[in-house]
Amino acid sequence: MILEKIESLLKEVSEVSASNAEELEALRLKYLSKKGEINALMADFRNVAADQKKAVGMKINELKQTAIEHINALREQMETKNDDSEELDLTRTAYPIKLGTRHPLTIVRNEIIDIFSRMGFTLADGPEVEDDLHIFTKMNFAADHPARDMQDTFFISQHPNDVTKNILLRSHTSSVQARVMERTQPPIRIICPGRVYRNEAITARAHCFFHQVEGLYIDKNVSFTDLKQVLLTFSQEMFGPETQIRLRPSYFPFTEPSAEMDISCHICGGKGCGFCKHTGWVEILGCGMVDPNVLELCGIDSNVYSGYAFGLGVERITNLKYLVSDLRMFSENDTRFLKEFESAN
Ligand code: PHE
Repeated sequence: MILEKIESLLKEVSEVSASNAEELEALRLKYLSKKGEINALMADFRNVAADQKKAVGMKINELKQTAIEHINALREQMETKNDDSEELDLTRTAYPIKLGTRHPLTIVRNEIIDIFSRMGFTLADGPEVEDDLHIFTKMNFAADHPARDMQDTFFISQHPNDVTKNILLRSHTSSVQARVMERTQPPIRIICPGRVYRNEAITARAHCFFHQVEGLYIDKNVSFTDLKQVLLTFSQEMFGPETQIRLRPSYFPFTEPSAEMDISCHICGGKGCGFCKHTGWVEILGCGMVDPNVLELCGIDSNVYSGYAFGLGVERITNLKYLVSDLRMFSENDTRFLKEFESAN
């Protein structure tokens, strides 16, 4: 008797169909749920005579298996049908595109530009392959100044008897100052971001190329106080309002007086730590009042005008801001490193 019941259910279950999700669920409940037909058979199973138990058991299993497979097949059919009927978006890419991130040096350079722009500085640009005239001569470097030496400079070509005709990779962005002063009369208020090259062995702390942002302001009555205030504002915008600055006397051929500027160490707040070598200060830039010789060499009357200039290293600022300890990371294009700056973009 029970065998007949199973046979008829088997036939029934393999012929059922469903046209929507509700009907499918109803089928599942009818056959496969706790209170469904198959479980009811299981309950009857204990009344089956011992010698038939094996055959009946196998039939019930077959029925259960058939019900599961058939209902699953119906579900699959229904799902693929739904996909087909959806409108196709032909503009969608075939695979997800991962967006890249800005390079940390670009992020920091943009931030520097942004801060100085708000103080009225405009952008100026110049060539990376430059002549000696703009890199050294007009910047008041003496003909025998050591910076002209092969040790520091990459030469593209050297003139046999006129150093000012040498062509080289610029070793600082001060050459842009010279170019702007040549063609513009004051007031001049510019920043020049750019890549510079020096003939140095590549280590964690030095590289043969890096990035600078040069600043130049020339007008009547520009004083050292103006320079100091602009640099203080920059430092506090960049590293936080509690940042302090100090200027130490220094030397550059193109500025007089010249100074190097430190900021209070933003890791320890100036108390002294391993990062600032326990001094409480870290150096970030060079600056000074434009040497009157430079103004004259570039066609600006030094009796009427005065100015200041400063130059900072973008790598240096990035190192301080993001604690990057090895300069080489900036040019290795290791995406694991670059991805760390995703949130700063
Ligand atoms: N040109 C200098 C350097 O490369 C930086 C600097 C710029 C210093 C302007 C003073 C004024 O080191």
